[in-house]
Amino acid sequence: MKNIRTLTFVLITLLISLLVGCQNSTDSEASAEENEQQPIIIQGPMPIEAENFAAKLENVEEETSGNFLFYKGYVEDYPVIVMKTGKGMENTAAATAIAIEKFNPAAIINQGTSGGHDPDLHVYDIVLGKRTVNIGSLKTGHREDEEGIAPTEWIPMDLMASEGSAGEDKDAENIRYFEGDEGLLEAANAVKDTHEEGKVVEGTIGSADVWNNEVDRIQWFHENFGTSVEEMEGAAGAQIAKAYDVPYLGIRTLSNNKVNGGEYTPETAEANQEYVYEVVKQYISTQK
Ligand code: 5AD
Repeated sequence: MKNIRTLTFVLITLLISLLVGCQNSTDSEASAEENEQQPIIIQGPMPIEAENFAAKLENVEEETSGNFLFYKGYVEDYPVIVMKTGKGMENTAAATAIAIEKFNPAAIINQGTSGGHDPDLHVYDIVLGKRTVNIGSLKTGHREDEEGIAPTEWIPMDLMASEGSAGEDKDAENIRYFEGDEGLLEAANAVKDTHEEGKVVEGTIGSADVWNNEVDRIQWFHENFGTSVEEMEGAAGAQIAKAYDVPYLGIRTLSNNKVNGGEYTPETAEANQEYVYEVVKQYISTQK
């Protein structure tokens, strides 16, 4: 009898200490999560648009998901993740959703090279995306067999306007602009002068899985959509960031400008990352 009582006592004590142990570890996991700062994410499509920034991170760990490569590290003790997204809208949209789900970022900067639409902008200048717009989201006019094609008649199509058919919905015949985040824009404007190779201006970034080399078409976008530059990622990331309500900004250097004869210069990608690094440090100082 005495033995049974001792055994019961030992078992109950064990059970209580196990329960208390579990409780403590749940508490400490929760407080570790609370203390964990939300990272800033820097996206670059091509190796030349991500690796310079990644090399500046401290204590880097690499992680992959599908085609996407994440360099997880720190800038001045603040968590920063550089992502190589790959080129184009689909890669960028998927990479952005995965990054948001995985890392719960405080903000996302999508950066890299672009082609000029504005004749006043030159190779090495930088455009801060006060607005970003999908310039591949278009509806053609109605033309019958043998009536040809007329791209200047195409009208914008807002895929976010409703859940109905975008082809039939008159309310969808609008340009959808995604606004750049005010706090990120403020940080970017505050360090403008650190970019010495060109000027830094606010503008409109147009994106599509298209590289336009027809000057008349480029001018058509510039006049009708107000585009400053074109690239292949910004609007895709902006759409997903908006869906999750994550602050987002596009920062694009001109690596070429067909409108004023600016020859393709890949070194602009590195200069852009140098500038974005200054923007990130400035943004971190406002977060602390
Ligand atoms: N048109 C489209 N994309 C461009 N890029 C640089 N210049 C242009 C341009 N004129 C960028 C895209 C993509 C890669 C091909 O370079 O964003 O990532």
